[in-house]
Amino acid sequence: MNSPGGKTRLCPSILSADFARLGEQVRAVEQGGAQAIHLDVMDGHFVPNLTLGPAVVKAIDRITALPLDVHLMILQPDLYLEAFREAGADWISVHVEAERHLHRTVSRIRELGAKAGVVLNPATPLASLTEILHEVDFILIMSVNPGFGGQAFIPAALDKVAALRDLIETRKLETLIEVDGGVGLENAAELVRAGADILVAGNAVFGKGDPAANTRDLLRRMREAEG
Ligand code: DX5
Ligand code: ZN
Repeated sequence: MNSPGGKTRLCPSILSADFARLGEQVRAVEQGGAQAIHLDVMDGHFVPNLTLGPAVVKAIDRITALPLDVHLMILQPDLYLEAFREAGADWISVHVEAERHLHRTVSRIRELGAKAGVVLNPATPLASLTEILHEVDFILIMSVNPGFGGQAFIPAALDKVAALRDLIETRKLETLIEVDGGVGLENAAELVRAGADILVAGNAVFGKGDPAANTRDLLRRMREAEG
């Protein structure tokens, strides 16, 4: 899970991909140098949208060697952890706001052999991580309110990433920071400088133009910003 050579990673979200050509689009970002594929799972309850389940994760797993980063925007994630892991999820993240027994959920993800992540909505403070930070492999900071691709980046996320980076350094942890929502060429460098390890991008990769070229452009911007 640690970024090789300390390098930041780009994780395209297929939410904005052409679902009729999903295989082709995943292969394109793989060729562009993406380090993982982000899959957004929504249940129509935790967020006001419906997307995909384990069957789609399994289909993607068959056509790519890249790790699958499954972002669960669902209530009662415990009920589905095993199904997503069996389908091929390598990293599984759950929202702080969606699970009453977060410690149990995170422990279960790790028991299943996946990397465990905890997600914070824009209005959820970093303080909610105090007791769980050392138990997880990564923290996902939402920089939009979850539910839809193509929304505008909420600038306050930059300070939140920087504050989380400080917290991780202070506590001498290896926890990775992932950022999701409204990420593109205009803010990728700033996010890397603020301390992000993994950037998720949907619209910026699949929204227009060639997904492989968009992936390369974003990665170039991220590399330039690495210290
Ligand atoms: C939003 C999802 C994101 C989304 C990002 O709820 O969690 O992963 O696909 O899409 P963009 O990059 O278009 O904001
Ligand atoms: Zn996501």
